[in-house]
Amino acid sequence: MSSIKNKRILNVLNGVPVDKTPVWIMRQAGRYLPEYKSTRAKAGSFLDLCKNPELASEVTIQPIKRFDLDAAIIFSDILTIPDAMGLELKFEDNRGPYFNNPLNNINDIKSLSDDNVENKLEYVDEAIIQTKKKLNNEIPLIGFSGSPWTLSTYMIEGSATKEFRKIRSIVFKDPKMLNDLTKKLIKSISNYLIMQAKVGANVLMIFDSWGGLLNTENYLHFSLDPMKEIINNLRNNKISKNIPIILFTKGGGGWLNKIAESGCNGIGLDWTIDISLARKIIGENICIQGNLDPCALHGKEEDIKNATSKIIDGYGYGHKHIFNLGHGIDQHVNPDNLEILINHVKEYSKKYHQN
Ligand code: CP3
Repeated sequence: MSSIKNKRILNVLNGVPVDKTPVWIMRQAGRYLPEYKSTRAKAGSFLDLCKNPELASEVTIQPIKRFDLDAAIIFSDILTIPDAMGLELKFEDNRGPYFNNPLNNINDIKSLSDDNVENKLEYVDEAIIQTKKKLNNEIPLIGFSGSPWTLSTYMIEGSATKEFRKIRSIVFKDPKMLNDLTKKLIKSISNYLIMQAKVGANVLMIFDSWGGLLNTENYLHFSLDPMKEIINNLRNNKISKNIPIILFTKGGGGWLNKIAESGCNGIGLDWTIDISLARKIIGENICIQGNLDPCALHGKEEDIKNATSKIIDGYGYGHKHIFNLGHGIDQHVNPDNLEILINHVKEYSKKYHQN
């Protein structure tokens, strides 16, 4: 790890000062890039791309070739875990990812496998190994997983639904079912993340995209506590005990004080909370990642720069901010606009990092 040349993100996560604010972008490898679309076409489908280490590593480094980014994130999807546990993942262009046989009751949970799930995800191992070679120690590689709650939403709803009524009802009607599922997911996710650390991931991020659906009590029980257990499992394993961990709960602005006590090194913010307020709540020991509204990238050059400057000013002096969007970049963004943003972060943030 120490041989990585650009350590800005690792330094920020480890409390070491940096010369400018580091930046990477959620979903930086994706459909807004024409080269992604052409590799995806070569692979045949989105899932074939996820399961093809050679092509997955190729798309992982596509944004690195174009932009001055401080990290790569391995190209994969959070839904590969449920697939490996026995729920067959499908994908259709106009529908996104889905499962044909979503979970309905406790017996469905019993039939899910949580043994050696990481072995069924060897294609991700291999993609990480090939990506590390291609990155040639220039920048760190981020590995990731979905949170137990967010994976449960897809496994129970079958896909991202409008209101998530089924799982939100199960929270109250059959918490035991959800607890059983959560237990299996904690085990699978922990082993999967340890495996990613073992083969070369330098940072791990947990995406809790749907934590914001819950009330506070249920967020703590079904989302944050399970993520804490995963962090503990990683800290108790000699391979992953020191790896920096970032938690991102979309819609989690009201629970930042609790998230800050989870043992994570960084907290991802969506765009609905002011970064200066978030910093006051989170304190100075934990990094903040985010929090530009992805739609700001549809503005003109000056609009993009202004919106970016406001986030950097909002954070102010200090070395614990990783610039990112508040959620994934959308497929209709012009890549030139992302370049404007990244270059502006590098240039504009310098003044906050002198001495
Ligand atoms: O960030 C990166 O560049 C790494 C790759 C990555 C993907 N998905 C690739 C992808 C990551 C980190 C994810 C995480 C993911 N996947 C999350 C958590 C983050 C978030 O966005 O909230 C979630 C909820 C998923 C599930 C998922 N995968 C959905 C809902 C969709 C459809 C919506 C969409 O954006 O199309 C996907 C598909 C997906 N995952 C694409 C990519 C590049 C688009 C697929 C394609 O058509 O090529």
